[in-house]
Amino acid sequence: MRKKIVIANWKMNHDFHETTNFLRNLLKIFLEKKINHNKEIIIAPSFPFLHISNQILQGTTLKVAAQNIHQMDKGSYTGEVSASMLKSIGISKVILGHSERREFFIEKNDILLKKIRIALKYEFHIIFCVGETAFERNQNQQFNIVKNQLKETVFHCSSDEIRFFYIAYEPVWAIGTGKVATYEQAQTMHEFIRSLFLERYGESVSNKISILYGGSVNNLNAKALLLQKDIDGGLVGNSSLKLEKFLEIIQS
Ligand code: PGA
Repeated sequence: MRKKIVIANWKMNHDFHETTNFLRNLLKIFLEKKINHNKEIIIAPSFPFLHISNQILQGTTLKVAAQNIHQMDKGSYTGEVSASMLKSIGISKVILGHSERREFFIEKNDILLKKIRIALKYEFHIIFCVGETAFERNQNQQFNIVKNQLKETVFHCSSDEIRFFYIAYEPVWAIGTGKVATYEQAQTMHEFIRSLFLERYGESVSNKISILYGGSVNNLNAKALLLQKDIDGGLVGNSSLKLEKFLEIIQS
C-alpha cells in the first residue's frame, strides 16, 4: 500500500516571518497530536528559508524540499543554487520540471535531465512534474505530451534510481486557476502514467512509484482526489499557504 503524500509548494510566497511562524505553528499542532493523519508531509519554502525551515522541523516526520536546483555542480552561474549547497544544509528533496520553470525559465527536457542527474548524484529525492497545457488537451495530445516528458527525462534513469522519484501530474491549465481536473481526468492520467512505468520498469516499480496530482487542489476537493486508485497525494500551491486550509488537506 502506497503512503499518501502532501507537498506544499510555496513558490515565491511567504517571507522569513511567515515561513517560520507557519512551520512553528504546524509543528506545535503535530506535537500536540491535534490532528489525525497518516501522510508524508513535505514543505517547499523559498531558498533563503530552507535552512531555518529544516532546523525547525529537524527530528520530526515533516520534511523540507527545495523548489529548484541548478544543473551544474558549481561555477560561475550568478544567482544560482547548486545541489551540493543544499545538501550541505541538510536538504535532500527537490521539485523539478514544474510548469512555471518550464514556461518562465525555459527549462526544456534536456536541461531537466541534467538537473535530474545532478540531483541523483547528491542522492536527492525528486518530485518531478509533468503535465499538458490547455491547448494540448484541446488537441487531445495530453497522453503524448506526458509520455514524451517522461521519456526524455525520468525514463533515462535506471530502475534503481527510480526509487528517488515522486511523479506529480500537474495539468498546466489547472495550476493556480481554480480549475481542478475532474477526478476522472486525473485518475485516467495517473493510471496512464503508472502504465508507462509498468512498460518501462516492470510491475514492482510501477506499483511502488508515487504519483501525485497538482493543480488547484484545495481543502474541498483533496479528499475525493486522494481517494482515486492511482492518486497517491497532492502537490499543493495556493491552498498550502494558509495553515488552516493546509491542515484540512492533510487530514482529508
Ligand atoms: P496550485 O499550484 O495548487 O496553486 O494550483 C500547484 C502547483 O503549481 O504545484
